[in-house]
Amino acid sequence: MERAKRLDLIPPYLFGEISRLKSKAIAEGKDLVDLGIGDPDQPTPQAVIDKLSEAANDPETHRYDETEAGWPLFLEAASRWYKKRFNVDIDPKSEAMLLLGSKDGLAHLCWAMINPGDISLVPDPGYTVYKVNTLMAGGQIHAMPLLEKNGFVPELASIPTDVAKKAKLMFLNYPNNPTGATATLDFYNDVVRFAKEYDIAVCSDLAYSEVTYDGYDAPSMLQAEGAKDVVIEMHSLSKTYNMTGWRIGFAVGNSDLISHLNKLKSNIDSRQFPAIDIAAAYALENVSNKPTLDLYTKRRDILAEGLNELGWKVKKPAASLYVWAKVPDGYTSADFAKILLTDAGVLVIPGNGYGEYGEGYVRMSLTVSGDKNGDRMAEAVKRIKENIKVKWS
Ligand SMILES: Cc1ncc(COP(=O)(O)O)c(C=O)c1O
Repeated sequence: MERAKRLDLIPPYLFGEISRLKSKAIAEGKDLVDLGIGDPDQPTPQAVIDKLSEAANDPETHRYDETEAGWPLFLEAASRWYKKRFNVDIDPKSEAMLLLGSKDGLAHLCWAMINPGDISLVPDPGYTVYKVNTLMAGGQIHAMPLLEKNGFVPELASIPTDVAKKAKLMFLNYPNNPTGATATLDFYNDVVRFAKEYDIAVCSDLAYSEVTYDGYDAPSMLQAEGAKDVVIEMHSLSKTYNMTGWRIGFAVGNSDLISHLNKLKSNIDSRQFPAIDIAAAYALENVSNKPTLDLYTKRRDILAEGLNELGWKVKKPAASLYVWAKVPDGYTSADFAKILLTDAGVLVIPGNGYGEYGEGYVRMSLTVSGDKNGDRMAEAVKRIKENIKVKWS
């Protein structure tokens, strides 16, 4: 049996060596502080679980969701939430659709939009889903470097004109994974102007918009002038309400893009268990994520301040779940991640796993399992201080 050639286009798993060392350490009974995966460690708020239980007891939710684009109660709640949160009007009937998590929307948008040879503009470093699905759909990618000197925001003027002319799709993600960077509404206005000039559809990945600190409010790209002409925005409940396993999100924006994505997805999945939609709608309109954010803020401060004290200069992110730190001179991302794991028992992700411009950095997640009130984060800092003897700058 021979598999489809498109699977060969999936790049090799770059975290292979770290995964192997992690399994080995665990098998040897070592205690690791795992700052690897960005998966909220706190439980889903109880009120959301109670709502799921109530909705699951209603036989109305036990059948296929045969609606046009997702359970109306959920899409209406998502639209009201957009109005309240961003002052953006969304028509739940034509400008919104349900997603099985935002990854579903991001991946399938490539399949709905990319013809063989088409170009996607993708951030580098970036969430790998944009690139992999463009390639599998037969497209090519043009990397937009996210450089520290530019605040990890791409320079639109550096995209060659012939590439811009051929580009079909652009992906942007702020608050950003992996760099923790944020973008301004001014930048989004520039993006929309650029996209209109070159007739490019823009996908704004807003998975981390509600994971923010110190009073920072992340904008939506749909707040930009004329955004609905070119923008589709993907939103997720995963990181906001600790609901990664529930697989629920939504897309809003340009009605043609929504319709193309919906046409494709209607032939792939049969939407979500409606009880989950009902619980998610309830979460959007009734539940605060402040307790989780307070805990992340505490961990962020312990990590960033602790590392800075020992000489490792890292920035506190204003949003996202990630501290993005430059590795000391003379080390690659992979070398340094390996040293942190084997010498200090602290697991971080090498930055080159997110693209070539991620080389020279490691990503540390604030979602550390087993952490109570910052104690595991403090342990991570202590271990690095005691075991890693390098010249930090
Ligand atoms: C940048 C970014 N976008 C989207 C997602 C997907 O989230 P979900 O599919 O759970 O909504 C993730 C998950 O880690 C992410 O980091």
